[in-house]
Amino acid sequence: KKRMEQHDFLVIGSGMAGLVFALRAAEAGTVAIYSKRDPRDGNTSWAQGGIAAAVARDDHASIHAADTLACGVGLCRLAAVQLVVDNGTRAIARLEEAGVSFARAADGGYELGREGGHSRRRIVHAADATGRVVIEALLARVAQHPNIRLLPQQVIVDLILDRSGTDGAGSRCLGAYVLDVESREIRPVAARVTMLATGGCGKVYRYTSNPDVATGDGIAVAWRAGCRVANLEMVQFHPTCLYHPDAKSFLISEAVRGEGGYLTTISGERLRIGHPLGDLAPRDIVARAIDREIKRRGDKHVLLHLEHLDADRISHRFPTIYETCRQHGIDITTTPIPVVPAAHYQCGGVMTDLQGRTDIPGLFAAGEVAFTGLHGANRLASNSLLEAVVMAEEAAAAAVAELPGIPMSGSLPPWDTGMATLPRETVLIDAHWDLVRRLMWDFVGIVRNDHRLALAARYLEIFRRSIESYYWDFVLDRDLIELRNLSLVAELIVRCARERRESRGLQYNEDHPERDDARYNVDTVLAPPRPREGPPL
Ligand code: SIN
Repeated sequence: KKRMEQHDFLVIGSGMAGLVFALRAAEAGTVAIYSKRDPRDGNTSWAQGGIAAAVARDDHASIHAADTLACGVGLCRLAAVQLVVDNGTRAIARLEEAGVSFARAADGGYELGREGGHSRRRIVHAADATGRVVIEALLARVAQHPNIRLLPQQVIVDLILDRSGTDGAGSRCLGAYVLDVESREIRPVAARVTMLATGGCGKVYRYTSNPDVATGDGIAVAWRAGCRVANLEMVQFHPTCLYHPDAKSFLISEAVRGEGGYLTTISGERLRIGHPLGDLAPRDIVARAIDREIKRRGDKHVLLHLEHLDADRISHRFPTIYETCRQHGIDITTTPIPVVPAAHYQCGGVMTDLQGRTDIPGLFAAGEVAFTGLHGANRLASNSLLEAVVMAEEAAAAAVAELPGIPMSGSLPPWDTGMATLPRETVLIDAHWDLVRRLMWDFVGIVRNDHRLALAARYLEIFRRSIESYYWDFVLDRDLIELRNLSLVAELIVRCARERRESRGLQYNEDHPERDDARYNVDTVLAPPRPREGPPL
């Protein structure tokens, strides 16, 4: 009989938040990082822009905080903003200690990029591949650490809770059921502390800048376990993703507009953004301007121009974008880039305190999956990697302090469904994947209205019931697990969007086009129904 896997810390997800948490927690105990695919497949690796930090001489954390608050349109939680921006310089220093080298200017200081909503140059970066450089450095550290094991191709199915002695809600997290993709086995993994660092949910939408792993798993498992979630209507659409039939989810960083790039319609007219920062206005404003123009003209995309800028500078500053566009037949130094908005970042998430604690003892969350209140109604560009580092460190410090008081659980029940005998289903699963994503794009996109949201809610309920009805009838593989999560998260996004009957930040509802501070200057918080009574463990 195999021994049950037991760890002091179980980290689910291998992006920035997961790896930073793991490195810190490993000073106090054993850590296992479960990664859904390859650890390089997460959203962090795709982050081009960089990390916002007030390191310039003309900058200060208070100015960074003011920009963050302005972008968040009244919903940012001040304590979260202060914690994160005040730790900017420290976070950059810690990443450098971990082996990351950021781009430097001729005077030896950081070469700082500029992005939408920032009143200063503030983006510390490594060309246009910041996320990839950071992840490689952190993975190298993780690989050397004797207390950390990193397991790829492991899909979380659900969290395991101790519900004994309570009325079913809020009881301790004991670990998770995890599917090993290769052996197709689902097994319980016990942990004294579980960290959700699963990233966001871009794949809920048909068009997204996110990689395939971004299916909202963390929100779904936390919700099913009994955690509250907040502000899920605040989905950030990035204004500029490459529009090309063969390009899947390729972002053209906002930093290119920071260097002088500008947007026009296909027929060459400058885009009317209607904001003093013009092409560098906050993302919600630029994305809506593009959406409006595309719909009005019946065009498929707009154009992003860099041809007027110095060709050498552009190809050196943005080597990834230059090369990827070249592979698609576009020389960005001579030809405008066709771009469209696409789902990019989830500003809401699983509610946490400022030490990453969720509603369930023993369960922490950090990074995009978590809702700390930093982003409010719209995330300021490049604040997310900063939040991931700062909050993962805070969560690790809190988890390490709690560890001595947490016993390891006894044995956990095995997963028992007789999976080997179940048939495989692909037609239904593929069809539901497409239906959910298409519906979300068409009905719950950049511009919303009450009628489309109401219809979306009805359709999504039907999809969810249908998916639930066959969930136990087929072999549980990654596609089916992700689909169940995706459809649940889609429903939660729509519920939040229907509760906010105003327009603010990323939520734009044409039936309620004005901001309504009297009624809606508050977060949209959803509490799950009481968890089903599970067997007491
Ligand atoms: C970008 O490079 O435009 C993305 C940066 C971000 O999403 O913060």
